[in-house]
Amino acid sequence: MTDPSSIERHTFDVVVVGAGGAGLRAAIAAHDAGAKVALVCKSLLGKAHTVMAEGGIAAAMGNVWSEDNWKVHFRDTMRGGKMLNHWRMAQLHAQEAPERVHELEEWGALFDRTPDGLISQRDFGGHRYARLAHVGDRTGLELIRTLQQRAVALGISVFMECTITKLFSDGERVSGAFGYWRESGRFIVFEAPSVVLATGGIGKSYKVTSNSWEYTGDGHALALAAGADLVNMEFVQFHPTGMVWPPSVKGILVTESVRGDGGVLRNSEGRRFMFDYIPEFFKAETADTEEEADRWYNDKTNNRRPPELLPRDEVARAINAEVKAGRGTPHGGVYLDIASRHPAEYIKRRLPSMYHQFKELADVDITAEPMEVGPTCHYVMGGVAVDPDTGESDVPGLYAAGEVAGGMHGSNRLGGNSLSDLLVFGRRAGLNAAYAAARKRERASVSDDDVRAAAEHALAPFSSTGDENPYSVQHDLQEVMHSLVGIIRTAEEMQQALDKLTELRKRTARMSVEGHRQYNPGWHLALDLHNMLLVSECIARAALERTESRGGHTRDDYPATDDTWGTINLLCRLDGDSVNVRQVPLPSMPDELRALFDEK
Ligand code: FUM
Repeated sequence: MTDPSSIERHTFDVVVVGAGGAGLRAAIAAHDAGAKVALVCKSLLGKAHTVMAEGGIAAAMGNVWSEDNWKVHFRDTMRGGKMLNHWRMAQLHAQEAPERVHELEEWGALFDRTPDGLISQRDFGGHRYARLAHVGDRTGLELIRTLQQRAVALGISVFMECTITKLFSDGERVSGAFGYWRESGRFIVFEAPSVVLATGGIGKSYKVTSNSWEYTGDGHALALAAGADLVNMEFVQFHPTGMVWPPSVKGILVTESVRGDGGVLRNSEGRRFMFDYIPEFFKAETADTEEEADRWYNDKTNNRRPPELLPRDEVARAINAEVKAGRGTPHGGVYLDIASRHPAEYIKRRLPSMYHQFKELADVDITAEPMEVGPTCHYVMGGVAVDPDTGESDVPGLYAAGEVAGGMHGSNRLGGNSLSDLLVFGRRAGLNAAYAAARKRERASVSDDDVRAAAEHALAPFSSTGDENPYSVQHDLQEVMHSLVGIIRTAEEMQQALDKLTELRKRTARMSVEGHRQYNPGWHLALDLHNMLLVSECIARAALERTESRGGHTRDDYPATDDTWGTINLLCRLDGDSVNVRQVPLPSMPDELRALFDEK
Protein backbone atom coordinates (compact mmCIF):
# COMPACT_ATOMS: atom_id res chain seq x y z
CA MET A 1 0.00 0.00 0.00
CA THR A 2 1.27 3.48 -0.89
CA ASP A 3 2.34 5.65 2.02
CA PRO A 4 0.87 9.13 1.30
CA SER A 5 3.61 10.85 3.28
CA SER A 6 6.20 9.53 0.84
CA ILE A 7 4.56 11.25 -2.13
CA GLU A 8 5.86 14.52 -3.58
CA ARG A 9 3.43 17.35 -2.63
CA HIS A 10 3.05 20.93 -3.85
CA THR A 11 0.79 23.78 -2.87
CA PHE A 12 -0.41 26.29 -5.46
CA ASP A 13 -3.25 28.77 -5.89
CA VAL A 14 -4.07 27.61 -9.39
CA VAL A 15 -3.17 24.35 -11.11
CA VAL A 16 -3.58 24.41 -14.89
CA VAL A 17 -3.82 20.95 -16.46
CA GLY A 18 -2.71 21.02 -20.09
CA ALA A 19 -0.20 23.33 -21.74
CA GLY A 20 -1.52 23.94 -25.23
CA GLY A 21 -2.72 27.42 -26.11
CA ALA A 22 -5.59 27.48 -23.59
CA GLY A 23 -3.47 26.19 -20.72
CA LEU A 24 -0.60 28.56 -21.42
CA ARG A 25 -2.93 31.54 -21.76
CA ALA A 26 -4.75 30.57 -18.54
CA ALA A 27 -1.49 30.17 -16.64
CA ILE A 28 -0.25 33.58 -17.81
CA ALA A 29 -3.54 35.25 -16.81
CA ALA A 30 -3.60 33.59 -13.40
CA HIS A 31 0.03 34.56 -12.80
CA ASP A 32 -0.66 38.17 -13.85
CA ALA A 33 -3.56 38.24 -11.37
CA GLY A 34 -1.12 37.43 -8.59
CA ALA A 35 -1.64 33.69 -8.22
CA LYS A 36 1.03 31.07 -7.64
CA VAL A 37 0.51 28.85 -10.68
CA ALA A 38 1.47 25.31 -11.68
CA LEU A 39 1.28 24.37 -15.34
CA VAL A 40 1.09 20.59 -15.69
CA CYS A 41 1.29 18.80 -19.03
CA LYS A 42 1.32 15.22 -20.15
CA SER A 43 3.68 15.86 -23.03
CA LEU A 44 6.74 18.02 -23.57
CA LEU A 45 6.00 21.72 -23.19
CA GLY A 46 5.09 23.11 -26.60
CA LYS A 47 3.80 19.85 -28.03
CA ALA A 48 0.04 20.40 -28.32
CA HIS A 49 -2.83 20.03 -30.78
CA THR A 50 -2.86 23.85 -30.95
CA VAL A 51 -0.15 23.56 -33.61
CA MET A 52 -2.67 21.73 -35.81
CA ALA A 53 -4.69 24.96 -36.13
CA GLU A 54 -2.38 25.84 -38.95
CA GLY A 55 -4.27 28.36 -41.04
CA GLY A 56 -4.84 31.15 -38.57
CA ILE A 57 -6.64 32.88 -35.70
CA ALA A 58 -10.10 34.21 -36.50
CA ALA A 59 -10.54 37.79 -35.27
CA ALA A 60 -12.60 40.60 -36.79
CA MET A 61 -9.77 43.14 -36.97
CA GLY A 62 -10.96 44.58 -40.26
CA ASN A 63 -7.44 44.75 -41.73
CA VAL A 64 -8.42 43.37 -45.12
CA TRP A 65 -12.15 44.22 -45.09
CA SER A 66 -13.03 47.32 -43.09
CA GLU A 67 -16.67 46.10 -43.11
CA ASP A 68 -15.74 43.31 -40.73
CA ASN A 69 -16.58 43.69 -37.03
CA TRP A 70 -17.44 41.52 -34.02
CA LYS A 71 -21.10 41.39 -34.91
CA VAL A 72 -20.42 39.77 -38.28
CA HIS A 73 -17.98 37.34 -36.67
CA PHE A 74 -20.56 36.51 -33.99
CA ARG A 75 -23.19 35.85 -36.63
CA ASP A 76 -20.89 33.67 -38.76
CA THR A 77 -19.90 31.64 -35.69
CA MET A 78 -23.51 31.06 -34.65
CA ARG A 79 -24.57 30.13 -38.18
CA GLY A 80 -21.57 27.81 -38.53
CA GLY A 81 -22.62 26.10 -35.27
CA LYS A 82 -26.21 25.85 -36.61
CA MET A 83 -27.35 28.17 -33.81
CA LEU A 84 -26.61 25.74 -31.02
CA ASN A 85 -23.65 27.74 -29.68
CA HIS A 86 -23.94 29.37 -26.26
CA TRP A 87 -24.70 32.91 -27.50
CA ARG A 88 -22.77 34.57 -24.68
CA MET A 89 -19.60 32.60 -25.42
CA ALA A 90 -19.88 33.42 -29.11
CA GLN A 91 -20.37 37.08 -28.25
CA LEU A 92 -17.40 37.32 -25.87
CA HIS A 93 -15.27 35.39 -28.34
CA ALA A 94 -16.04 37.72 -31.25
CA GLN A 95 -15.66 40.86 -29.15
CA GLU A 96 -12.37 39.95 -27.49
CA ALA A 97 -10.51 38.04 -30.21
CA PRO A 98 -8.92 41.13 -31.86
CA GLU A 99 -7.45 42.32 -28.55
CA ARG A 100 -6.00 38.87 -27.89
CA VAL A 101 -4.31 38.85 -31.31
CA HIS A 102 -2.80 42.31 -30.78
CA GLU A 103 -1.56 41.22 -27.37
CA LEU A 104 0.05 38.16 -28.92
CA GLU A 105 1.86 40.41 -31.33
CA GLU A 106 3.09 42.60 -28.47
CA TRP A 107 4.45 39.44 -26.88
CA GLY A 108 6.48 38.65 -29.98
CA ALA A 109 4.33 36.74 -32.47
CA LEU A 110 5.43 37.52 -36.02
CA PHE A 111 2.30 37.63 -38.19
CA ASP A 112 2.31 37.87 -41.98
CA ARG A 113 1.50 41.41 -43.17
CA THR A 114 -0.78 43.13 -45.68
CA PRO A 115 0.89 45.43 -48.26
CA ASP A 116 0.06 48.29 -45.84
CA GLY A 117 1.95 46.62 -43.03
CA LEU A 118 -1.12 45.50 -41.05
CA ILE A 119 -1.56 41.94 -39.77
CA SER A 120 -2.65 39.94 -42.82
CA GLN A 121 -5.97 38.06 -42.72
CA ARG A 122 -6.97 35.13 -44.91
CA ASP A 123 -10.19 33.45 -45.97
CA PHE A 124 -11.59 30.34 -44.29
CA GLY A 125 -14.83 28.39 -44.50
CA GLY A 126 -17.94 30.02 -43.05
CA HIS A 127 -16.29 33.39 -42.38
CA ARG A 128 -17.87 36.15 -44.45
CA TYR A 129 -14.67 38.19 -44.63
CA ALA A 130 -10.97 37.31 -44.78
CA ARG A 131 -10.48 37.23 -41.03
CA LEU A 132 -7.71 34.80 -40.06
CA ALA A 133 -4.51 36.38 -38.78
CA HIS A 134 -1.79 33.97 -39.79
CA VAL A 135 1.86 33.03 -39.96
CA GLY A 136 2.07 31.14 -43.25
CA ASP A 137 0.41 27.83 -42.46
CA ARG A 138 2.12 27.53 -39.08
CA THR A 139 -0.03 29.85 -37.00
CA GLY A 140 -0.70 27.49 -34.09
CA LEU A 141 3.00 26.84 -33.77
CA GLU A 142 3.77 30.56 -33.59
CA LEU A 143 1.02 31.02 -30.99
CA ILE A 144 2.44 28.25 -28.81
CA ARG A 145 6.00 29.53 -29.25
CA THR A 146 4.98 33.02 -28.15
CA LEU A 147 2.92 31.95 -25.14
CA GLN A 148 5.48 29.40 -24.06
CA GLN A 149 8.29 31.94 -24.14
CA ARG A 150 6.20 34.33 -22.07
CA ALA A 151 5.16 31.72 -19.50
CA VAL A 152 8.76 30.64 -19.03
CA ALA A 153 9.96 34.27 -18.82
CA LEU A 154 7.34 34.94 -16.11
CA GLY A 155 8.77 32.06 -14.09
CA ILE A 156 5.60 29.97 -14.05
CA SER A 157 6.30 26.51 -12.58
CA VAL A 158 6.05 23.88 -15.30
CA PHE A 159 5.58 20.16 -14.60
CA MET A 160 5.99 18.45 -17.94
CA GLU A 161 5.56 14.79 -18.82
CA CYS A 162 3.30 14.58 -15.81
CA THR A 163 -0.21 13.08 -16.16
CA ILE A 164 -3.11 13.98 -13.88
CA THR A 165 -5.40 11.04 -13.08
CA LYS A 166 -7.71 12.41 -10.40
CA LEU A 167 -9.11 15.65 -9.03
CA PHE A 168 -9.64 16.04 -5.29
CA SER A 169 -12.51 17.76 -3.55
CA ASP A 170 -12.85 18.94 0.05
CA GLY A 171 -16.59 18.31 -0.12
CA GLU A 172 -17.40 21.85 -1.21
CA ARG A 173 -14.93 22.64 -3.94
CA VAL A 174 -11.95 21.33 -5.80
CA SER A 175 -8.92 20.98 -3.56
CA GLY A 176 -6.20 19.64 -5.86
CA ALA A 177 -5.05 16.96 -8.25
CA PHE A 178 -3.19 13.65 -8.27
CA GLY A 179 -0.83 12.50 -10.98
CA TYR A 180 2.32 10.64 -11.93
CA TRP A 181 5.60 11.49 -13.61
CA ARG A 182 5.65 9.62 -16.90
CA GLU A 183 9.36 8.91 -16.73
CA SER A 184 9.77 7.62 -13.19
CA GLY A 185 6.18 6.55 -12.55
CA ARG A 186 6.38 8.31 -9.18
CA PHE A 187 3.26 10.00 -7.86
CA ILE A 188 2.70 13.68 -7.29
CA VAL A 189 -0.01 15.61 -5.40
CA PHE A 190 -1.05 19.22 -5.97
CA GLU A 191 -3.07 21.06 -3.36
CA ALA A 192 -4.93 24.03 -4.85
CA PRO A 193 -8.32 25.73 -4.49
CA SER A 194 -8.62 26.29 -8.26
CA VAL A 195 -7.94 23.88 -11.11
CA VAL A 196 -8.19 24.85 -14.78
CA LEU A 197 -8.68 22.01 -17.26
CA ALA A 198 -7.11 22.75 -20.64
CA THR A 199 -6.48 19.22 -21.82
CA GLY A 200 -7.79 19.50 -25.39
CA GLY A 201 -9.85 16.84 -27.14
CA ILE A 202 -10.69 13.21 -27.64
CA GLY A 203 -9.40 12.41 -31.14
CA LYS A 204 -7.44 9.33 -30.12
CA SER A 205 -10.69 7.42 -29.65
CA TYR A 206 -11.04 7.46 -33.46
CA LYS A 207 -9.07 5.46 -35.98
CA VAL A 208 -8.36 8.32 -38.37
CA THR A 209 -7.49 11.55 -36.60
CA SER A 210 -5.32 14.64 -36.75
CA ASN A 211 -4.79 14.32 -32.97
CA SER A 212 -1.61 12.84 -31.53
CA TRP A 213 -1.29 10.38 -28.63
CA GLU A 214 -2.06 12.90 -25.87
CA TYR A 215 -5.71 13.46 -26.84
CA THR A 216 -7.52 10.82 -24.83
CA GLY A 217 -10.28 12.95 -23.29
CA ASP A 218 -8.53 13.24 -19.93
CA GLY A 219 -10.03 16.59 -18.94
CA HIS A 220 -13.51 15.53 -20.05
CA ALA A 221 -13.26 12.41 -17.89
CA LEU A 222 -11.70 14.21 -14.90
CA ALA A 223 -14.54 16.75 -14.97
CA LEU A 224 -17.20 14.03 -15.17
CA ALA A 225 -15.65 12.16 -12.26
CA ALA A 226 -15.57 15.41 -10.26
CA GLY A 227 -19.33 15.86 -10.81
CA ALA A 228 -19.38 18.34 -13.71
CA ASP A 229 -21.64 18.14 -16.77
CA LEU A 230 -20.46 17.71 -20.35
CA VAL A 231 -22.49 19.52 -23.01
CA ASN A 232 -22.96 18.82 -26.75
CA MET A 233 -20.87 15.64 -26.75
CA GLU A 234 -22.60 14.29 -29.84
CA PHE A 235 -20.88 16.89 -32.00
CA VAL A 236 -17.53 15.69 -33.30
CA GLN A 237 -15.75 17.58 -36.06
CA PHE A 238 -14.27 15.71 -38.99
CA HIS A 239 -11.95 18.11 -40.74
CA PRO A 240 -12.64 17.58 -44.45
CA THR A 241 -9.03 17.34 -45.46
CA GLY A 242 -6.61 14.94 -43.88
CA MET A 243 -3.93 12.98 -45.73
CA VAL A 244 -5.13 9.58 -46.90
CA TRP A 245 -1.89 8.12 -48.23
CA PRO A 246 0.51 6.53 -47.32
CA PRO A 247 -1.16 4.58 -44.47
CA SER A 248 1.43 5.69 -41.90
CA VAL A 249 0.34 9.34 -42.24
CA LYS A 250 -3.39 8.82 -42.72
CA GLY A 251 -5.30 11.53 -40.83
CA ILE A 252 -2.55 14.15 -40.69
CA LEU A 253 -4.11 17.55 -41.27
CA VAL A 254 -4.14 19.35 -44.61
CA THR A 255 -4.93 22.90 -43.65
CA GLU A 256 -8.14 24.58 -44.75
CA SER A 257 -5.89 27.41 -45.93
CA VAL A 258 -5.37 25.39 -49.11
CA ARG A 259 -9.05 25.95 -49.93
CA GLY A 260 -9.00 29.46 -48.43
CA ASP A 261 -6.21 30.32 -50.86
CA GLY A 262 -8.05 28.96 -53.91
CA GLY A 263 -7.65 25.15 -53.78
CA VAL A 264 -10.57 23.19 -55.27
CA LEU A 265 -11.94 19.71 -54.60
CA ARG A 266 -12.52 17.27 -57.45
CA ASN A 267 -13.68 13.68 -57.63
CA SER A 268 -12.13 10.89 -59.70
CA GLU A 269 -14.19 12.05 -62.71
CA GLY A 270 -12.61 15.49 -62.49
CA ARG A 271 -15.88 17.10 -61.34
CA ARG A 272 -15.76 20.02 -58.89
CA PHE A 273 -18.39 18.24 -56.84
CA MET A 274 -19.00 20.75 -54.04
CA PHE A 275 -21.50 22.55 -56.30
CA ASP A 276 -23.72 19.48 -55.86
CA TYR A 277 -23.78 19.81 -52.08
CA ILE A 278 -24.81 23.40 -51.30
CA PRO A 279 -27.40 23.21 -48.51
CA GLU A 280 -30.45 25.47 -48.43
CA PHE A 281 -29.16 27.14 -45.23
CA PHE A 282 -26.12 28.57 -47.09
CA LYS A 283 -27.57 28.92 -50.64
CA ALA A 284 -27.81 32.72 -50.64
CA GLU A 285 -24.15 33.19 -49.80
CA THR A 286 -22.61 30.41 -51.90
CA ALA A 287 -21.57 30.65 -55.55
CA ASP A 288 -23.33 28.02 -57.63
CA THR A 289 -21.21 28.03 -60.77
CA GLU A 290 -17.46 27.65 -61.29
CA GLU A 291 -17.38 31.00 -63.01
CA GLU A 292 -18.99 32.79 -60.08
CA ALA A 293 -16.80 30.97 -57.56
CA ASP A 294 -13.65 31.91 -59.42
CA ARG A 295 -14.80 35.50 -59.71
CA TRP A 296 -14.97 35.55 -55.92
CA TYR A 297 -11.41 34.28 -55.66
CA ASN A 298 -10.32 37.05 -58.02
CA ASP A 299 -12.15 40.11 -56.69
CA LYS A 300 -13.96 38.93 -53.54
CA THR A 301 -16.63 41.57 -53.86
CA ASN A 302 -19.68 39.48 -54.73
CA ASN A 303 -20.08 37.89 -51.28
CA ARG A 304 -20.99 34.55 -52.80
CA ARG A 305 -18.20 32.32 -51.73
CA PRO A 306 -17.02 29.11 -53.41
CA PRO A 307 -18.70 25.97 -52.06
CA GLU A 308 -15.27 24.62 -51.02
CA LEU A 309 -15.51 27.25 -48.26
CA LEU A 310 -18.74 26.00 -46.77
CA PRO A 311 -18.42 25.08 -43.07
CA ARG A 312 -16.45 21.92 -42.37
CA ASP A 313 -19.38 19.64 -41.59
CA GLU A 314 -20.83 20.29 -45.04
CA VAL A 315 -17.55 19.67 -46.88
CA ALA A 316 -16.68 16.54 -44.88
CA ARG A 317 -20.11 15.01 -45.57
CA ALA A 318 -19.80 15.79 -49.27
CA ILE A 319 -16.39 14.11 -49.53
CA ASN A 320 -17.70 11.13 -47.63
CA ALA A 321 -20.65 10.85 -50.04
CA GLU A 322 -18.44 11.08 -53.14
CA VAL A 323 -16.15 8.32 -51.90
CA LYS A 324 -19.13 6.13 -50.94
CA ALA A 325 -20.61 6.65 -54.42
CA GLY A 326 -17.44 5.22 -55.95
CA ARG A 327 -16.03 8.51 -57.19
CA GLY A 328 -13.06 8.57 -54.83
CA THR A 329 -9.32 8.44 -55.50
CA PRO A 330 -7.36 5.15 -55.50
CA HIS A 331 -6.69 5.58 -51.77
CA GLY A 332 -10.23 6.44 -50.73
CA GLY A 333 -10.16 10.24 -50.76
CA VAL A 334 -10.83 13.03 -53.24
CA TYR A 335 -8.45 15.39 -55.03
CA LEU A 336 -7.50 18.77 -53.62
CA ASP A 337 -5.91 20.85 -56.32
CA ILE A 338 -3.96 24.04 -55.70
CA ALA A 339 -1.29 23.35 -58.35
CA SER A 340 -3.47 24.42 -61.28
CA ARG A 341 -4.62 27.54 -59.43
CA HIS A 342 -1.40 29.37 -58.50
CA PRO A 343 2.25 29.56 -59.51
CA ALA A 344 4.63 27.34 -57.53
CA GLU A 345 6.33 30.29 -55.85
CA TYR A 346 2.99 31.54 -54.43
CA ILE A 347 2.09 28.09 -53.09
CA LYS A 348 5.46 27.66 -51.40
CA ARG A 349 5.19 31.10 -49.78
CA ARG A 350 1.61 30.78 -48.56
CA LEU A 351 1.64 27.07 -47.68
CA PRO A 352 5.21 26.14 -46.80
CA SER A 353 4.31 23.38 -44.33
CA MET A 354 1.90 21.72 -46.74
CA TYR A 355 4.54 21.79 -49.47
CA HIS A 356 7.09 20.04 -47.22
CA GLN A 357 4.54 17.70 -45.60
CA PHE A 358 3.45 16.23 -48.94
CA LYS A 359 6.93 16.19 -50.42
CA GLU A 360 8.47 14.41 -47.46
CA LEU A 361 5.63 12.14 -46.35
CA ALA A 362 3.92 11.25 -49.64
CA ASP A 363 6.41 12.18 -52.35
CA VAL A 364 3.82 14.52 -53.86
CA ASP A 365 4.77 17.96 -55.19
CA ILE A 366 1.66 20.06 -54.46
CA THR A 367 2.86 22.80 -56.81
CA ALA A 368 2.60 20.33 -59.70
CA GLU A 369 -0.03 17.70 -58.79
CA PRO A 370 -3.19 17.38 -56.68
CA MET A 371 -3.25 16.02 -53.13
CA GLU A 372 -5.41 13.08 -52.08
CA VAL A 373 -7.45 14.04 -49.01
CA GLY A 374 -10.31 12.76 -46.87
CA PRO A 375 -12.04 13.53 -43.56
CA THR A 376 -10.10 13.15 -40.30
CA CYS A 377 -11.39 13.43 -36.72
CA HIS A 378 -10.07 16.82 -35.67
CA TYR A 379 -12.03 18.42 -32.84
CA VAL A 380 -14.84 17.82 -30.37
CA MET A 381 -17.36 20.62 -29.98
CA GLY A 382 -18.65 19.01 -26.79
CA GLY A 383 -17.00 19.58 -23.47
CA VAL A 384 -17.29 20.73 -19.90
CA ALA A 385 -20.34 22.96 -19.38
CA VAL A 386 -18.98 26.25 -18.05
CA ASP A 387 -20.15 29.70 -17.13
CA PRO A 388 -19.39 31.75 -20.27
CA ASP A 389 -17.90 34.72 -18.42
CA THR A 390 -15.74 32.92 -15.86
CA GLY A 391 -15.09 29.48 -17.36
CA GLU A 392 -16.13 27.84 -14.08
CA SER A 393 -18.02 24.54 -14.22
CA ASP A 394 -20.82 23.52 -11.84
CA VAL A 395 -18.13 22.18 -9.52
CA PRO A 396 -16.81 25.14 -7.52
CA GLY A 397 -13.14 25.78 -8.22
CA LEU A 398 -13.09 23.69 -11.41
CA TYR A 399 -12.60 25.67 -14.62
CA ALA A 400 -12.24 24.61 -18.25
CA ALA A 401 -11.01 26.40 -21.37
CA GLY A 402 -10.23 25.59 -24.98
CA GLU A 403 -11.33 22.37 -26.64
CA VAL A 404 -12.17 20.63 -23.35
CA ALA A 405 -14.86 23.26 -22.67
CA GLY A 406 -18.20 22.99 -24.45
CA GLY A 407 -20.82 25.40 -25.73
CA MET A 408 -18.80 27.93 -27.69
CA HIS A 409 -19.00 26.26 -31.10
CA GLY A 410 -22.46 24.73 -30.98
CA SER A 411 -22.77 21.83 -33.39
CA ASN A 412 -19.83 22.75 -35.62
CA ARG A 413 -16.74 24.93 -35.17
CA LEU A 414 -15.56 27.29 -37.89
CA GLY A 415 -11.90 26.93 -38.80
CA GLY A 416 -9.73 29.51 -37.08
CA ASN A 417 -12.16 29.91 -34.19
CA SER A 418 -10.24 27.50 -31.98
CA LEU A 419 -7.12 29.64 -31.64
CA SER A 420 -9.21 32.70 -30.80
CA ASP A 421 -11.38 30.61 -28.44
CA LEU A 422 -8.41 29.36 -26.47
CA LEU A 423 -6.93 32.84 -26.13
CA VAL A 424 -10.20 34.49 -25.07
CA PHE A 425 -11.41 31.78 -22.71
CA GLY A 426 -7.98 30.65 -21.53
CA ARG A 427 -7.43 34.16 -20.24
CA ARG A 428 -10.88 34.37 -18.68
CA ALA A 429 -10.58 31.00 -16.93
CA GLY A 430 -7.09 31.80 -15.63
CA LEU A 431 -8.12 35.19 -14.26
CA ASN A 432 -11.24 33.87 -12.56
CA ALA A 433 -9.44 30.86 -11.14
CA ALA A 434 -6.90 33.25 -9.60
CA TYR A 435 -9.58 35.57 -8.19
CA ALA A 436 -11.41 32.62 -6.65
CA ALA A 437 -8.20 31.31 -5.09
CA ALA A 438 -7.52 34.75 -3.61
CA ARG A 439 -11.02 34.84 -2.08
CA LYS A 440 -10.53 31.51 -0.37
CA ARG A 441 -8.89 32.11 2.98
CA GLU A 442 -8.01 28.61 4.21
CA ARG A 443 -5.44 26.58 2.29
CA ALA A 444 -6.75 23.73 0.18
CA SER A 445 -5.86 20.41 1.68
CA VAL A 446 -6.06 16.83 0.51
CA SER A 447 -6.64 13.92 2.87
CA ASP A 448 -4.28 10.94 3.09
CA ASP A 449 -7.21 8.61 2.45
CA ASP A 450 -7.98 10.34 -0.84
CA VAL A 451 -4.33 10.17 -1.88
CA ARG A 452 -4.16 6.48 -1.01
CA ALA A 453 -7.32 5.76 -3.05
CA ALA A 454 -5.96 7.68 -6.05
CA ALA A 455 -2.68 5.77 -5.88
CA GLU A 456 -4.45 2.43 -5.66
CA HIS A 457 -6.60 3.27 -8.66
CA ALA A 458 -3.49 4.24 -10.66
CA LEU A 459 -1.66 1.06 -9.72
CA ALA A 460 -4.57 -1.31 -10.36
CA PRO A 461 -3.35 -2.46 -13.83
CA PHE A 462 -0.19 -3.85 -12.18
CA SER A 463 -2.12 -6.12 -9.85
CA SER A 464 -4.52 -7.44 -12.47
CA THR A 465 -3.79 -10.97 -13.61
CA GLY A 466 -6.04 -10.76 -16.68
CA ASP A 467 -4.81 -11.39 -20.19
CA GLU A 468 -6.04 -8.21 -21.88
CA ASN A 469 -3.58 -5.92 -23.56
CA PRO A 470 -4.26 -2.13 -23.53
CA TYR A 471 -3.08 -1.75 -27.12
CA SER A 472 -5.61 -4.21 -28.47
CA VAL A 473 -8.40 -2.59 -26.43
CA GLN A 474 -7.46 0.81 -27.85
CA HIS A 475 -7.34 -0.58 -31.38
CA ASP A 476 -10.83 -2.05 -31.00
CA LEU A 477 -12.20 1.15 -29.45
CA GLN A 478 -10.92 3.20 -32.40
CA GLU A 479 -12.53 0.76 -34.80
CA VAL A 480 -15.89 0.98 -32.98
CA MET A 481 -15.95 4.78 -32.90
CA HIS A 482 -14.78 5.09 -36.49
CA SER A 483 -17.26 2.69 -38.00
CA LEU A 484 -20.29 3.10 -35.70
CA VAL A 485 -20.16 6.68 -34.33
CA GLY A 486 -18.41 8.43 -37.21
CA ILE A 487 -19.52 10.99 -39.79
CA ILE A 488 -22.83 9.27 -40.61
CA ARG A 489 -24.77 7.61 -37.79
CA THR A 490 -27.86 5.44 -37.26
CA ALA A 491 -29.66 4.33 -34.10
CA GLU A 492 -28.92 0.70 -34.83
CA GLU A 493 -25.20 1.30 -35.23
CA MET A 494 -24.97 3.47 -32.12
CA GLN A 495 -26.75 0.86 -30.07
CA GLN A 496 -24.21 -1.64 -31.36
CA ALA A 497 -21.45 0.79 -30.41
CA LEU A 498 -22.80 1.11 -26.87
CA ASP A 499 -22.91 -2.69 -26.52
CA LYS A 500 -19.36 -2.93 -27.76
CA LEU A 501 -18.22 -0.16 -25.40
CA THR A 502 -19.70 -2.15 -22.50
CA GLU A 503 -17.70 -5.16 -23.67
CA LEU A 504 -14.55 -3.05 -23.93
CA ARG A 505 -15.11 -1.75 -20.41
CA LYS A 506 -15.26 -5.34 -19.17
CA ARG A 507 -12.05 -6.07 -21.01
CA THR A 508 -10.32 -3.12 -19.32
CA ALA A 509 -11.02 -4.78 -15.97
CA ARG A 510 -8.94 -7.72 -17.20
CA MET A 511 -6.17 -5.48 -18.55
CA SER A 512 -2.76 -6.12 -17.06
CA VAL A 513 0.53 -4.41 -17.68
CA GLU A 514 4.02 -5.82 -17.52
CA GLY A 515 7.17 -4.39 -16.01
CA HIS A 516 7.31 -1.65 -13.42
CA ARG A 517 6.50 2.02 -13.09
CA GLN A 518 9.58 3.50 -14.79
CA TYR A 519 8.65 4.75 -18.22
CA ASN A 520 5.91 2.27 -19.04
CA PRO A 521 3.70 3.33 -21.97
CA GLY A 522 1.47 0.26 -21.60
CA TRP A 523 0.55 1.36 -18.08
CA HIS A 524 -0.04 4.95 -19.24
CA LEU A 525 -2.36 3.73 -21.98
CA ALA A 526 -4.22 1.46 -19.55
CA LEU A 527 -5.02 4.56 -17.45
CA ASP A 528 -5.89 6.70 -20.47
CA LEU A 529 -8.26 4.04 -21.75
CA HIS A 530 -10.65 4.60 -18.83
CA ASN A 531 -11.00 8.20 -19.99
CA MET A 532 -11.35 7.27 -23.65
CA LEU A 533 -14.07 4.73 -22.96
CA LEU A 534 -16.02 7.04 -20.67
CA VAL A 535 -15.94 9.94 -23.13
CA SER A 536 -16.76 7.66 -26.08
CA GLU A 537 -19.82 6.47 -24.19
CA CYS A 538 -20.91 10.10 -23.69
CA ILE A 539 -20.55 10.71 -27.43
CA ALA A 540 -22.51 7.60 -28.39
CA ARG A 541 -25.28 8.15 -25.82
CA ALA A 542 -25.80 11.80 -26.72
CA ALA A 543 -25.68 10.95 -30.43
CA LEU A 544 -28.34 8.28 -29.97
CA GLU A 545 -30.55 10.72 -28.06
CA ARG A 546 -30.40 13.54 -30.64
CA THR A 547 -32.82 12.37 -33.33
CA GLU A 548 -31.94 14.95 -35.97
CA SER A 549 -28.95 15.96 -38.10
CA ARG A 550 -27.07 19.15 -37.26
CA GLY A 551 -23.44 20.21 -37.70
CA GLY A 552 -21.03 17.49 -36.64
CA HIS A 553 -23.84 15.00 -35.99
CA THR A 554 -25.45 13.41 -39.04
CA ARG A 555 -28.14 10.76 -38.62
CA ASP A 556 -28.96 8.69 -41.67
CA ASP A 557 -32.24 7.76 -39.97
CA TYR A 558 -33.06 11.41 -39.12
CA PRO A 559 -31.50 13.37 -42.00
CA ALA A 560 -33.35 16.66 -41.37
CA THR A 561 -32.43 19.47 -39.01
CA ASP A 562 -35.33 19.71 -36.59
CA ASP A 563 -36.31 23.09 -35.10
CA THR A 564 -37.42 21.47 -31.85
CA TRP A 565 -33.92 20.16 -31.30
CA GLY A 566 -32.57 23.62 -32.11
CA THR A 567 -33.54 24.76 -28.62
CA ILE A 568 -32.15 21.78 -26.72
CA ASN A 569 -28.76 20.99 -25.27
CA LEU A 570 -27.82 17.52 -24.09
CA LEU A 571 -25.88 17.24 -20.87
CA CYS A 572 -23.97 14.13 -19.81
CA ARG A 573 -23.35 13.44 -16.14
CA LEU A 574 -21.82 10.52 -14.33
CA ASP A 575 -24.08 8.70 -11.89
CA GLY A 576 -21.98 6.03 -10.19
CA ASP A 577 -20.58 4.16 -13.16
CA SER A 578 -23.35 5.14 -15.58
CA VAL A 579 -23.49 8.02 -18.00
CA ASN A 580 -26.84 9.81 -17.86
CA VAL A 581 -27.99 12.10 -20.65
CA ARG A 582 -30.58 14.80 -20.03
CA GLN A 583 -32.16 17.51 -22.14
CA VAL A 584 -31.95 21.13 -21.03
CA PRO A 585 -33.13 24.27 -22.83
CA LEU A 586 -30.55 26.20 -24.81
CA PRO A 587 -29.85 29.58 -23.12
CA SER A 588 -31.95 32.09 -24.98
CA MET A 589 -30.33 34.88 -26.93
CA PRO A 590 -31.16 38.54 -26.13
CA ASP A 591 -33.24 40.34 -28.76
CA GLU A 592 -30.49 42.79 -29.78
CA LEU A 593 -28.26 39.88 -30.77
CA ARG A 594 -31.09 37.99 -32.42
CA ALA A 595 -31.75 41.06 -34.57
CA LEU A 596 -28.28 40.67 -36.12
CA PHE A 597 -29.54 37.64 -38.02
CA ASP A 598 -32.07 39.78 -39.88
CA GLU A 599 -29.33 42.03 -41.28
CA LYS A 600 -27.96 41.30 -44.72
O1 FUM B 1 -7.20 23.78 -41.28
C1 FUM B 1 -6.63 24.33 -40.37
O2 FUM B 1 -5.66 25.07 -40.54
C2 FUM B 1 -7.13 24.14 -39.01
C3 FUM B 1 -7.56 25.17 -38.32
C4 FUM B 1 -8.47 24.98 -37.18
O3 FUM B 1 -8.82 23.85 -36.85
O4 FUM B 1 -8.90 25.99 -36.60
